[in-house]
Amino acid sequence: MPERWFRQAVIYCLDVDTFQDSNGDGVGDLPGLIDRLDHLARLGITCVWLNPIHPSPDRDDGYDITDFYAVHPALGSLGDFVELIHQSNNRGIRVMIDLVVNHTSDQHPWFQSARSSPDSPYRDWYVWSLDEPSDLRQGMVFPGYQDTTWTFDDEAGAWYYHRFYDFQPDLNMANPRVRQEIEKIIGFWLQLGVAGFRLDAAPFVIELTEPGVAEPRRDFSWLEDFNKQLSWRRGDAVILAEANVEREELIKYFGDGHRLPMLFNFILNQRTFLALAREEVGPILQALAETPAIPDTCQFATFLRNHDEVDLGRLVGHEHDEVFAAFGPDPKMQLYGRGIRRRLAPMLGNDRRRIEMAYALQFSLPGTPVIRYGDEIGMGDDLSLPERNAMRTPMQWSNTRHAGFSTSSRKSDLRRPVISGGEFGFETVNVVDQQRDPTSLLSWFQRALLILRECPEFGAGKCSYIDTGRRSVLALIHDAPSGAMLAVVNLAHTGCSFDLGRQQCQDGSPIDVFADKNYPNVTDNLDGIEIGPFGYRWIRLRRTIGARAGSASGR
Ligand code: GLC
Repeated sequence: MPERWFRQAVIYCLDVDTFQDSNGDGVGDLPGLIDRLDHLARLGITCVWLNPIHPSPDRDDGYDITDFYAVHPALGSLGDFVELIHQSNNRGIRVMIDLVVNHTSDQHPWFQSARSSPDSPYRDWYVWSLDEPSDLRQGMVFPGYQDTTWTFDDEAGAWYYHRFYDFQPDLNMANPRVRQEIEKIIGFWLQLGVAGFRLDAAPFVIELTEPGVAEPRRDFSWLEDFNKQLSWRRGDAVILAEANVEREELIKYFGDGHRLPMLFNFILNQRTFLALAREEVGPILQALAETPAIPDTCQFATFLRNHDEVDLGRLVGHEHDEVFAAFGPDPKMQLYGRGIRRRLAPMLGNDRRRIEMAYALQFSLPGTPVIRYGDEIGMGDDLSLPERNAMRTPMQWSNTRHAGFSTSSRKSDLRRPVISGGEFGFETVNVVDQQRDPTSLLSWFQRALLILRECPEFGAGKCSYIDTGRRSVLALIHDAPSGAMLAVVNLAHTGCSFDLGRQQCQDGSPIDVFADKNYPNVTDNLDGIEIGPFGYRWIRLRRTIGARAGSASGR
């Protein structure tokens, strides 16, 4: 198996503007992030994914871009960006950025030119209709906050299409010049040293929008072009795509390995929340069964929370209601009629055992784990902020002014308010305090990620499920040339024990490498395995010294 670093990576997603401010203007910036890289190195992550860093009016947290070739001046300069790449790489950390090319901001000079005249060279860079489209609400993404997907532009005298908010006009991907420009953007950032991109809204990027066509055709060959551009410029670069689509669709994004190398596993994410709500593994097993087999060179990315709402749109009605009832019962916790706009710790009642179990579960599932900034210390959310901003509050570094996020003298200058007071306030939840405390959640994360990196089988191995006979207990074996790992996770608030029997992949005596507490040694026959309430155990079944030489790179 050729080396594929992304199969053994731990990805950390962050918003630069809420991570660390270095100049006291209240907005996080790249020099601030550079200063905090040691926190990330100590945490044990191997790759950061930056939410959009480009110039933007910031009406959708930077996902409305006005210049793809620059850094938002509030965040720093291109020089700071290259310094970030250098300093990250020095610590063994790769950097990915968001590639948001389904649309631009309506303030982008391309759109300004396009709307100004039918003769503009940029007119055909966007999707227009001279007649009023029959369905103005075709394929809306943010119901309740977005009224239409077609909006009449007075200046252009035509309707333009926008999958998302009306200030985000869609680019016309059918125009080869637009695709060439995207390839140029990819090339530009690769040249500056990024390890890859998180492709925003992949299904919309490849669709051929036509007025009145609810299910437009998708041209998957563009993904091949982007991927070629990527790998010619940098052989080990990756695209991690956001494609929350049906199973049958999903496989098309991988192709036979020549389209995209990595996709978020949205099906698994939604079913994991259902499983956590029910304290039963059934939904996870169903998701694993539904997850299509993918080419050897490809990988899924797992996540619990990201910068958006928990999107439960693929669960059926009563399942959806169960998750809402368990984790987001108050209407103000819900969003777009399909999701929950909370961080994980509050969703799990700030119950330390459940939080640990949930992450141990995520790390035990097949795929590359992606975690969200602040979750390593169990940050909370601020439901007084609009929409998804609830989970985008400043990182809580210490119990000093503004949580150590900024030295600004005015609270009102802060990009967003810091969470203060109560069980999730920065006075209680912060990095400095948790760093000093070996029993803290942060110390747990550091240990968990260290061990995960010592067990590359989790990311690169073949994963199979073993029936434990217990509805609440998940048992997965990850088998790779380097060895075999058994992961056992109990989703329920009561403990139990079960027999597995000797496994074919075993060699020598099994060894517990990580668990929620000290358990009696597991027997060679894997019988009478104990697991506590919300417990988890990672057990090494085999280790083949030397098998990784010359291939895997370690997590
Ligand atoms: C993606 C992003 C989301 C953003 C939207 C529009 O879904 O995850 O945050 O609002 O695209 O760019």
